[in-house]
Amino acid sequence: GVTVLRSVNDLRQTVMTWRHGGLSIGFVPTMGALHEGHMALVRTARETCDRVIVSIFVNPTQFGVGEDYATYPRDEARDSALLEAHGVHALYAPAVEEIYPSGFASEVSVKGISEVLDGELRHGHFDGVATVVTKLLLQGFPDRAFFGEKDYQQLQIIRRLVTDLNIPVSIEGVATVREADGLALSSRNAYLNADQRKIAPTLHRTLQTMAQRFADGEDSKALSTWARSVLLDAGFDAVDYIEVRDAKTLSMIEDPRRAARVLGAAHLGRARLIDNVPV
Ligand code: PAJ
Repeated sequence: GVTVLRSVNDLRQTVMTWRHGGLSIGFVPTMGALHEGHMALVRTARETCDRVIVSIFVNPTQFGVGEDYATYPRDEARDSALLEAHGVHALYAPAVEEIYPSGFASEVSVKGISEVLDGELRHGHFDGVATVVTKLLLQGFPDRAFFGEKDYQQLQIIRRLVTDLNIPVSIEGVATVREADGLALSSRNAYLNADQRKIAPTLHRTLQTMAQRFADGEDSKALSTWARSVLLDAGFDAVDYIEVRDAKTLSMIEDPRRAARVLGAAHLGRARLIDNVPV
């Protein structure tokens, strides 16, 4: 089976051995419950690196009170079989105490970009992500680390922190894997019933229409208002945001010539769906 590493020491030892053998190392951080979206990251890593490590760690510090930390799906046997079938060389699956030993008191917080959109609705979430990703990168020191565009704000925050803290790891973004009707793959799609599943792709369709109309010169605020009503009319229960933003900083976009991204988050039954597209 795939080699399972439980400690920082074992991870470092393994990476050191490979590096001394002249091999390049790719790293794919996850929280498990693996699906085809995760596997696209693994595939890209396999294509560009000699050795691939996947981490599975359900990170407590990025879950808010009332969020699903306790009930987050955990099935290491299933996940590790999937990783082995995809040619992954090692699985790093540390216990919570290995990552957060008693006395742990430090935090990585990326200002500005962590406070908008999802950061405004999920206080502290991106500080938890930034802290654990910094630790994982420093523990493993891979050549490249792979993250999905599905979580676009997370990807931009990680790019920012790696630049700011001079972490010598190349951050690679991988395009979102979608169902045939455009719905982005997510473990939370399992919360949708059959009727909701039919409504769900409206989010991606609306983002795409917004991107096209913004490129054609329409006003971003007017497009947000329009998109909100489209989603609510389609049957979404609530819209957290659906906006055109600067593609790098995610701040409000004033100059339409700058690179832009359209991002949305909306509730449908028990699921909160997020998605984004380029302009
Ligand atoms: P998790 O939600 O398990 O996602 C792991 C990686 O898979 C992330 O980079 C995410 O963007 C990517 N991913 C998920 N669905 C995808 C899809 N449909 N297409 C492409 N990529 C997809 O994101 C996290 O875990 C955590 O926050 C983590 C970075 C591991 C830190 O704890």
